[in-house]
Amino acid sequence: MRSAHWYGGKDRDSYIHRAWMRRGLPNDAFDGRPHIAIANTASDLTPCNSHLNEVMEHVKNGIWEAGGVPLNMPSVSLGETQMRPTAMLWRNMAAMATEEMIRANPIDGVVLLGGCDKTIPALLMAAASVDLPALVVPGGPMLTGTFEGNPIGCGTDVWRLSEDVRAKKLSEAKFLNSESSMIRSRGHCNTMGTASTMGSMAEALGMTIPGTAGTPAADSRLLQAAQESGRLIVSMVHEDRKPSDVMTRGSFLNAIVALAGIGGSTNAVVHLLAIAGRLGIDLSLKDFDKTGSHVPLLVNLQPAGKYLMEDLYRAGGLLAVLKELEDLLDPKAITVTGKPLTSYLTEAEIYDTDVIRKRQTPLLEGAGIAVLTGNLAPLGAVIKPAAASAHLLQHRGKAIVFDSIEDFKKRIDDPALDVDENSVLILRGCGPKGYPGMPEVANMPLPKKLLEKGVRDMVRICDGRMSGTAYGTVVLHAAPEAAAGGPLAVVQTGDIIVLDVAARTLNIDISNEELAKRIPNAATTQAFASPDRGWQKLYIDHVMQADTGADNDFLTGGSGSEVLRESH
Ligand code: FES
Repeated sequence: MRSAHWYGGKDRDSYIHRAWMRRGLPNDAFDGRPHIAIANTASDLTPCNSHLNEVMEHVKNGIWEAGGVPLNMPSVSLGETQMRPTAMLWRNMAAMATEEMIRANPIDGVVLLGGCDKTIPALLMAAASVDLPALVVPGGPMLTGTFEGNPIGCGTDVWRLSEDVRAKKLSEAKFLNSESSMIRSRGHCNTMGTASTMGSMAEALGMTIPGTAGTPAADSRLLQAAQESGRLIVSMVHEDRKPSDVMTRGSFLNAIVALAGIGGSTNAVVHLLAIAGRLGIDLSLKDFDKTGSHVPLLVNLQPAGKYLMEDLYRAGGLLAVLKELEDLLDPKAITVTGKPLTSYLTEAEIYDTDVIRKRQTPLLEGAGIAVLTGNLAPLGAVIKPAAASAHLLQHRGKAIVFDSIEDFKKRIDDPALDVDENSVLILRGCGPKGYPGMPEVANMPLPKKLLEKGVRDMVRICDGRMSGTAYGTVVLHAAPEAAAGGPLAVVQTGDIIVLDVAARTLNIDISNEELAKRIPNAATTQAFASPDRGWQKLYIDHVMQADTGADNDFLTGGSGSEVLRESH
C-alpha cells in the first residue's frame, strides 16, 4: 500500500502520521488497509453538487464494507451559474489542486464526486495525472420540472423563453414566473448539457460502474451505485487498476462515438482533449470528426430534441444507447470493473424508442461534431450540426464583427445596425486568453429586429464556447483565438464569410495577400485582459488553445503518485 509509506514504520515520522489521524480509528486501520480519498466537490456555491455530501456517506459505507478506510477530501468546486467571469477559468486550477492533494496525502485510491459542468473534467484530469486507482460517481441530473403544464429543461428553456420575451411572444412576468419551476430537485442540469454529457463521457471512458451515469440525483439508485463504487475502489487498489489502464485511446474513441450518439455538448471536445493530454494519449480534433461525425444521433433530448435526462434514464440510459452503436465501439476498452465496456451491453434494452431511437430510425444521421478549418480558423473550429439549422450549414454572408461581449450587448439591438438574416455575427476576444477563460458566450442572442420578424437562427462564429444546453448554427472554439493573434482578430465588418460544413471549411473570402497584410497587426488590433498577478496571470501566460483542450502547458502529462521526501 502507498499509505504504508506514511503509516507503516516505527519511527517518529510514522508516529506523527498515525497519531494525528487516529481520532477513533482502530489500530488495524493503519495496518495495510487501503486508504481511499473521496474527492468531494459538494459546495453550497455549486448548487448542482450540493447533495454530494450524502452521496459521499454512501461511498464511505461501501469502502468500510470492503475493508478500506474512507477519507472525505473536499475539493475545489466550480459552480457554472455563479462564477464570474466563467467557471472554465478555474477548471485547470481545480484539476491542479486536486492532483496535488491526491499526491501529497497518504492515500491509495480515490473516488471522484462531481456533477456540475467543470467538476468531472477537472477531477478526471487530476486523477489521470496522478494515476492512482480512481473511479467517478457522477452526481446525476435533477428531475424534470414543469411550467404551465409543460416540462421545462434547464438552460435550453432559459434561452428559448428569454428569446420569446425579446420577440414579444411572452410577457416578462411569465418569464420570471418560470424561474421557480426550472430547478425541480437536487442534481445538475437535466438537459443533455455539459454536466449530463460529462457524466456520460466518464462512463463511456470506462471510469464509472457501467449503468451509473444519468441516474437522477434524487433517485435512491444513485446512493446504491455510490455504495457499490465504494466497494469497487477498494478492490481496484488491490488489483492496481489505474486510470491509465482504463482510459486508453480506444476508450476515448468510444467516448467520441457516445458523444455523437447522445448529441452531447461541444464542451466535451475541450474536456476530452485535456484529459487525454494528461495521459499522453494522442487525441486530436480530427479524431472527433473522423470517429464521431458519421454517428447517428439516437437520443431525443434537449437541446437537440425533446426529452430530458429523467426520460433517458427511464428509457434505458447510456448503455441502451451504446448497444445500438456496439459495432463502432472498441471491445478491448475496459472499465473500472476490469471488464470491457461492451460486455455490459448484452443486457441493455431500450424501453422507449421515442427517447432512445433505434439505429434504423435515428433523430438525425451523421450528427457528431464537425471540425472546420480554413483561413478563419487554421487550427480548427467546431460546430454541432445536430443543434444547427440545416439551411445554414452551407452559407455565405457579410460579417458583423464584435470585439467583446460588452461591445455585442451595446450594439446588437441598435435599430441602425446593418444586419439581416444572412449576416454572420462574429464575436472575438472570448478565447482562453482573451476573456480570459473561454466563456460560454458564442450562442449570441439574435438582433431584436430580426427576432420580431420571426428569424430564429443565424450563423454565428466565436473563439469562445457555447453552453451545452444551447442550440443554433454556431461555430465555436475558433483557434487560434483573436487574443493569440488568430485571423479572427483581423476579420472586418463587411468581409464575406463562407461556411461549408459538408466540406468542413470556414473562410473569409479575401485574397491570401490581403489576409497576409492584415495578420501582422493581429496582436495589436484589440486590447485583451492582461492581469499582472495571481491565477489569472499564470493561466493567461500558459493556457493552450482550444484545439488541444485549453489545458495549461505545464499541466499536460502526469507526475505519478510518488513522493520521495518526508515532511518532518
Ligand atoms: Fe450546473 Fe448546469 S449549472 S450543471
